[in-house]
Amino acid sequence: MTIETSKYPFSRPRRLRRRPFVRDLVREHSLAANDLIYPVFVVETQAEEIDIPSMPGIRRWSIDSLIRHVAVAVDLGIPAVAIFPVIDPSLKTADGREAFNSNGLVPRTIVRLKKEFPGLGLISDVALDPYTSHGQDGIIDDTGFILNDVTVDELVKQALVHAEAGVDIIAPSDMMDGRVGAIRSALEGHGFADTMILSYAAKYASAFYAPFRDAVGSASNLGKADKKTYQMDPANSEEALREVALDIAEGADMVMVKPGLPYLDIIRRVKDRFEVPVFGYNVSGEYAMIKAAAQAGFLDERACVLESLLAFKRAGADGVLTYHALDATRWLRQGSN
Ligand code: PBG
Repeated sequence: MTIETSKYPFSRPRRLRRRPFVRDLVREHSLAANDLIYPVFVVETQAEEIDIPSMPGIRRWSIDSLIRHVAVAVDLGIPAVAIFPVIDPSLKTADGREAFNSNGLVPRTIVRLKKEFPGLGLISDVALDPYTSHGQDGIIDDTGFILNDVTVDELVKQALVHAEAGVDIIAPSDMMDGRVGAIRSALEGHGFADTMILSYAAKYASAFYAPFRDAVGSASNLGKADKKTYQMDPANSEEALREVALDIAEGADMVMVKPGLPYLDIIRRVKDRFEVPVFGYNVSGEYAMIKAAAQAGFLDERACVLESLLAFKRAGADGVLTYHALDATRWLRQGSN
């Protein structure tokens, strides 16, 4: 005999929603400060900080002012920051060689942050786009095509410079084939066996990166060009699993899916298939959308941010890179979710 347990009135799902204590008890997922990675922009400047119009509330910091800003993140309990440089246009070249200047902006920032905050996780982006005169993540040929293997050689040099400066996690965001393996063996070969790799494994050619490109100043370098010959087609999902499998086989410790909110299905598929930590990147355009809507009075910023970040956790993300990290952590502390 089968007993029908699922039918009304015996089953009333609303019983579990009626009172706060039971909602608290049965809640499946949660969001905390230690799920969040805060991306920061650093620039060589005399000014303390420079606003980014398309990312209200986010600034480009001088190294000194960044130290004071990151102190706030540390006080709030955020476990790691991801460093992105805004490179002076005079240092940008076709081959982006400033990327592996051991006295460049990123290595100096890493050294200072490590000294000031030894317990804070430091993540550095590996890709050439902040450094190239054409704004692409790699080296181009006469037709504008991005050359894979010569680019990988440069990325390896860039990764080693960051590792030497003391970064904890190298995050290649360039999408060249084979770069994780090449970086991993170089790290092993140079005494950095413990430096972690968080690969941007499934990174899509997305229009949601536009405010970031304003922030690092690569939008004008890139002009009308796009990144579709190396970043993934938004129509693909199987391909994301293949990319993740390759990066894990090549030595990635953690993988990332990017952008975040329009790609939560990819986070879920990756989490179901692989036994590695998975991060989602709540990218600049996602940030700008909520900010703009909130400024117009169309949305409640706090509620929408906390709901969005929780959605990453529900989708299977172990953590989220988000420009909302400081605000979200303050709101979580106030216990408002
Ligand atoms: C570049 C890079 C990008 C982002 C992180 N690293 C932009 C791009 O690929 O053009 C985007 C982050 C964001 O939009 O917040 N290698």
